[in-house]
Amino acid sequence: MTLEAETKAVVAKFDYTDEDVNKAVKEFLRQMGEGLEKDGTSLSQIPTYVTGVPNGTEKGLYMAVDLGGTNFRVCSIHLNGDTTFNLTYSKVAIPRELMVAKTAQELFAFLAKQIEVFLQTHHEEHFEKHKRRRLTVSTPEGFRDEEVFRLGFTFSFPVQQIGINKGTLIRWTKGFDIPDAIGKDVCALLQVEIDKLHLPVRVAALVNDTVGTLMARSYSAPGKTSTVLGAIFGTGTNGAYVEKLENVKKPMAGEYDKSTGLMVVNTEWGSFDNQLNVLPNTTWDIQLDKDSVNPGIQMYEKRVSGMFLGEILRLVVLDLLKNPNISLFKDENSSSNDWRSTTNIGEKSSIYAQWGLDTAIMSVAAADNTPELVTLRQALEALDVYSPSLEDAQAFKAIAGAVGRRAARLSAVAIAAVVLQTNTLTDPENEGEPVDIGVDGSLVEHYPYFRDMIYEALRVIEGVGEEGAKRIRIGIAKDGSGVGAALIALVAAGMEKSMSTADYIGEVRSTAKAHDLTAVPEDSEEAVTEN
Ligand code: BGC
Repeated sequence: MTLEAETKAVVAKFDYTDEDVNKAVKEFLRQMGEGLEKDGTSLSQIPTYVTGVPNGTEKGLYMAVDLGGTNFRVCSIHLNGDTTFNLTYSKVAIPRELMVAKTAQELFAFLAKQIEVFLQTHHEEHFEKHKRRRLTVSTPEGFRDEEVFRLGFTFSFPVQQIGINKGTLIRWTKGFDIPDAIGKDVCALLQVEIDKLHLPVRVAALVNDTVGTLMARSYSAPGKTSTVLGAIFGTGTNGAYVEKLENVKKPMAGEYDKSTGLMVVNTEWGSFDNQLNVLPNTTWDIQLDKDSVNPGIQMYEKRVSGMFLGEILRLVVLDLLKNPNISLFKDENSSSNDWRSTTNIGEKSSIYAQWGLDTAIMSVAAADNTPELVTLRQALEALDVYSPSLEDAQAFKAIAGAVGRRAARLSAVAIAAVVLQTNTLTDPENEGEPVDIGVDGSLVEHYPYFRDMIYEALRVIEGVGEEGAKRIRIGIAKDGSGVGAALIALVAAGMEKSMSTADYIGEVRSTAKAHDLTAVPEDSEEAVTEN
């Protein structure tokens, strides 16, 4: 078969038809319902203890940290109360060895250290004042009036939330693997390390990045419509939405405000349809899953998110390279190459290594619409492919496009299902109003036409259709997780009122003990004081 014919055959395997999309939406709705009824389902539907969304008038200075992928981000956010905010942030890459550290303590000590560095750099005066107090004041009461930063902890992994600042890790995703942390309260893990450094910081809220995105978008979204869904299409994928409290049938431990009649639910849709009732499953999907650190789970995420798309593409390319009858990245002689050269691929090309093809190249392929595909060919040269021909680049572009298109259509499935679940298109109170959705993540931000392809699929979904798709407003909520975490810390700070410092420390200690964490240093009460 020629390269062109083989490419067509591969591309067809990534087709996800209108019929497939509609079938998947129905299954998604079924699995959402199942997750609201009981624990242990494939779509986890985790109640987040956040019972309302902001309206843009919130004010104050908060901190937020974000652990969820390749980087750890620390920021402080000043909410101005008029839908705007000022954000100061720093970012550090997580050393790979910490992603698979032996103990959770190693990772969390690193995180606390970054918070210390951030305070020293960006809030020096506050930090020094706090240090001076520690040295000069002999009683914990001496700290009573000191301002302690309330911190929103964005932790973007599946967590069984048991309170606004309490939750145990269910499983790691996105390449992290520290078994020691499973089942432990991640807020306590962080607070213990913060206290060891005597920082004036209290972990006030535990937030999934999707919840943060939902909150941030609600704070800053144009108009009066409140946001129904916050979604991430980045390294991983997930969504959190506003559910009617009465629909959450499974028991919820802990305190929460029932007056709004709402509960923000973290779907953990990365694990939608782990049983593969409706998800597509090519030989490359099977291979990718088999070689992953978590086979059999996050099956939807493995077909949708940035961490995996490049790898799917790489596995396809590898198969074509192995086929002696296909002339990908090889030319007979210079006459068959439009650059009058001969193509070959270096033995050490990262295309031969697992994870060797960054999803970013798919964006390059999608964006390059020039007749000679020069930019894409340069990107391929950077992968040690010498003089890729136009045919090579066309094949690569077509396959990458097919993988990306399937991901976008699958993304539309989740979005539509949430919109249908919340009845926002049919609710008379919302008539004629947009249905607002906040999104963040490298894929939706940088992959050209990703949102267009989502809309194309939305239009054919029963219950959405042309008219519904027009009303669905998908807007970027950049860095939503930082601002959103600050907003939730604000709500949580209000809830703390009734809890004294001693109670709070007592709680952290007992949680730490229950999870067999390193003891909180005895003098740590000094570090955590009321405003
Ligand atoms: C995690 C989610 C997270 C998503 C996006 C997934 O792998 O399970 O908790 O929201 O990635 O970061």
